[in-house]
Amino acid sequence: MGFVLAATGSAVGLGNIWKFPYMVGQSGGAAFVLVYLVCIALIGVPILVAEWMIGRRGQKNPINTMAQLAREHGHHRSWALVGGIGVLAAFLILSFYSVIGGWSLAYVRDALTGSFTGLDKGAIGAAFEGFLARPLELFGWHSLFMALTIAIVAMGVSKGLERGSKLLMPALGLILIVLVGYGATTGSFGAAASYLFNPDWSKLDGTVLLAALGHAFFTLSLGMGIMMAYGSYLGEEVNLLRAARTVVLMDTIFALCAGMAIFPIVFANGLDPAAGPGLVFVTLPLAFGNISGGLVLGTLFFLLLSFAALTSSISLLEPVVELLEERTALTRVGATLVAGVTIWALGISALLSFNLWSEVKLAGLNIFDLLDYLTSKFMLPLAGLGAIVFAAWKLEQTSVKRELRLGDTGFAIWTLLSRYIAPIGVLYVFWNNL
Ligand code: PFF
Ligand code: NA
Repeated sequence: MGFVLAATGSAVGLGNIWKFPYMVGQSGGAAFVLVYLVCIALIGVPILVAEWMIGRRGQKNPINTMAQLAREHGHHRSWALVGGIGVLAAFLILSFYSVIGGWSLAYVRDALTGSFTGLDKGAIGAAFEGFLARPLELFGWHSLFMALTIAIVAMGVSKGLERGSKLLMPALGLILIVLVGYGATTGSFGAAASYLFNPDWSKLDGTVLLAALGHAFFTLSLGMGIMMAYGSYLGEEVNLLRAARTVVLMDTIFALCAGMAIFPIVFANGLDPAAGPGLVFVTLPLAFGNISGGLVLGTLFFLLLSFAALTSSISLLEPVVELLEERTALTRVGATLVAGVTIWALGISALLSFNLWSEVKLAGLNIFDLLDYLTSKFMLPLAGLGAIVFAAWKLEQTSVKRELRLGDTGFAIWTLLSRYIAPIGVLYVFWNNL
């Protein structure tokens, strides 16, 4: 139970409520959603299980775990790179994740002070644009979010936070369901459902494929060594496949509910589905500003979203801190401060890409987009590929069969997925983009 809570806490976060809907919108709807669901089921689940399995066997941080298992099985030490890429990815992701966590905190204040009340779509969009144009304010909220993350990790109270999530995650889910209900009253519910689930396959190209695959990794916290690190705390009694089913189901439900809450508002108000990273911040406030009890509901929503973001951000900071603690003379508090402050500083460059540095670009991408691209679309799939290839081809398979408690048929399916479908899927998407 504690393990499933921790893993769900890491998985469910801004990725589900902030990132998933805007990626759907940028990719043109259902084709992306369906490819994403296929990626989750055929690639995400096997890699999640593989990471847990590797972590449970190695019992160390991701780099040392991979190095040790490779040694035990007579393979090259360069497998440790799989763990190394993961920790680096966690470091890069947290820098921009914290910026968005800061937006969420800022919107707690706005909701609480009734800033949305009576505003129309133009005013709400303008308020968001104005917010992005004030770097000092973004800096303040990013700093607050990062300070909270650092404090929680330094004090070692992550466990307490996870226990809190037993109550707070369902509460967030409940508000999402209320918002889906609001969506049903807008008259654009059918349009939203069709946008999300009725595919126009002409929208499918290599870019959409890569976006869907990358987001499957991001949303399940895969390829970052995080699930591997969690696996190292696992006892033999935990049934990995059952745990994976729970975590993946929860994560997917949150994402789809977020979509069904946001898109009816988009279509009812003639907003642009492809608006980008601000989508959730310019749609849901319209609902909060117009329904009775919207003040309380909006405040609670952004508070709980911030909480969900925090349970994910602590899981991003942990592996970086653990590595520093092991490899240097730093204490836990020292390591947390060094890692946290470095990530915070990098995050500043990410928040500046929404204003002062919006024209600072590499390959057409600003710093924020570049950090996102490098991690989700390159490092995570690569590290995840390493993990699944190692688990399926380098570990002794009779022990895997026993560990996963599978019969002959189940294991045949597992073998097909882990040896062929998942790795070939990742390679195909990569190749398609080259
Ligand atoms: N899975 C989280 C989300 O969907 O918001 C984000 C995340 C957390 C990614 C932890 C990676 C990670 F290690
Ligand atoms: Na997620």
